[in-house]
Amino acid sequence: MKHIIEALDHRREAARLGGGQKRIDAQHGRGKLTARERIELLLDHGSFEEFDMFVQHRCADFGMDKDEKIPGDGVVTGWGTVNGRTVYVFAKDFTVFGGSLSDTHAQKIIKIQDMALRNRAPIIGLFDAGGARIQEGVAALGGYGEVFQRNVLSSGVIPQISVIMGPCAGGDVYSPAMTDFIFMVRDRSYMFVTGPEVVKTVTNETVTAEELGGASVHTTKSSIADRAYDNDVEALLQMRRLIDFLPQSNTDPVPEWPTFDDSERDDYSLDTLVPDNPNKPYDVKELIAKVVDEGDFFEIQEAHAKNIVVGFGRMEGHTVGIVANQPMVLAGVLDIDASRKAARFVRFCDCFNIPIVTFVDVPGFLPGTAQEYGGLIKHGAKLLYAYAEATVPKVTIITRKGFGGAYVVMASKHLRGDVNYAWPSAQIAVMGAKGAVEIIFRQDLGDPEKIAQRTKEYEDRFLSPFVAAERGYVDEVIHPHVTRKRIARALGMLRHKQLENPWKKHDNIPL
Ligand code: HXC
Repeated sequence: MKHIIEALDHRREAARLGGGQKRIDAQHGRGKLTARERIELLLDHGSFEEFDMFVQHRCADFGMDKDEKIPGDGVVTGWGTVNGRTVYVFAKDFTVFGGSLSDTHAQKIIKIQDMALRNRAPIIGLFDAGGARIQEGVAALGGYGEVFQRNVLSSGVIPQISVIMGPCAGGDVYSPAMTDFIFMVRDRSYMFVTGPEVVKTVTNETVTAEELGGASVHTTKSSIADRAYDNDVEALLQMRRLIDFLPQSNTDPVPEWPTFDDSERDDYSLDTLVPDNPNKPYDVKELIAKVVDEGDFFEIQEAHAKNIVVGFGRMEGHTVGIVANQPMVLAGVLDIDASRKAARFVRFCDCFNIPIVTFVDVPGFLPGTAQEYGGLIKHGAKLLYAYAEATVPKVTIITRKGFGGAYVVMASKHLRGDVNYAWPSAQIAVMGAKGAVEIIFRQDLGDPEKIAQRTKEYEDRFLSPFVAAERGYVDEVIHPHVTRKRIARALGMLRHKQLENPWKKHDNIPL
């Protein structure tokens, strides 16, 4: 028996070496960890249960049946725990055929996808791979198709997270694109449908991998990636932090973690956060940090559309999604990018029972041809649609401007906001005083005195929270320093909210 056990150990040892020590050294030389090292960092120590370590490809073309068989076939799969909660994981092994996907490699991923969906737990993919295994042809393409199909079936049922940790092409960017979040590692990871060489051949465009699909591009311009980190270790530790915010599935409640931050805590510095001059900015991230438990905020898409801030925090230990206009950037205006960013986040929260807290200070939608030609109407409608269809608890605080359509969009009472508060500094109106007076008192434009008087009248009547409060559109005007307490109480009251939209096959959000 002893020698049989030893033989198993030898086989395991060989499998753990993947593409061999030389390729492992090359991987380390590029500043990257191996697939197994990554899994070790991601999961609780010793919790990883590996599957299919001895799976090999069955390709016989291009001499692949001779000496090119490597146990594991370029992907390490299994499950483990993150702070005690189950997650499924697959990590592409770049040392084996560049992590490329064969038929058998695909079957390993599919097995994990099916288990994650059946057993209702998040799935995390660590990508470092060159797409379809070229030697396998259509078998590899079919494998991707099966992976994509499962990405879609799992969407909205279990959280799916992709971490891009090396050069990724073809199917290894399309599968992540269908998951909930994509994270990248700076200067080491790239995402493109076709690489720089193909681009050069087809379009005669000379471009580096970083310029084409580096983290700097995807976290800012394309918004494909939700965040980037400096190295593998930081990225994986941050994934552990993210998992702590997420429920296991769409039928599970959000996780609850112990907190030492008193939910009744007042913060008097908030009484002076909004400047007296309505055109002066302030940092809404300061408000978020002062409201959520222990100031712990996991921001999503922090480098893209900075005029809106979205991310996860906790209140009384329960996860909440935060959406906040950022007056520091473009005065917090809603444009195409901000609308798309926030809409996707709101929909994620709604899929996974995460209550949404919205901080509103929005001067409106951004005017101009660039926005109109770019489809602002359709993209702005995405956010409107997302808030309107969301059935999770929605708590809204208007800190300053709530102008025009943007007021309606930002989780207003009219879109089934459950609890809508305003600070005394709130101004809820169709538009600001200057624009309004220039339109409705156009005949007085030549008379500065009259215009000043009309402006004052407009400001006194409309630029306050009280017209909305008189109608019940805001439930109460609150002191800024009690904001945390009032939100926590509202969310506690809403914990067992039940609301369902009419049955439909699926909706038809303006894409
Ligand atoms: C088989 C592959 C491979 C692939 C890389 N390798 N990609 N083997 N199929 N797709 C192998 C290499 O032969 C090499 O083997 C090892 O992996 C490392 O690759 P290098 O090129 O040396 O590494 P690097 O210079 O870092 O470049 C990485 C790369 C590049 C950018 C990923 O290899 C590349 O461009 N690969 C092809 C990408 C591609 O076009 N894939 C098909 C996409 S189509 P050795 O033995 O030397 O270690 C697709 C269809 C899906 O995916 C459909 C979706 C809708």
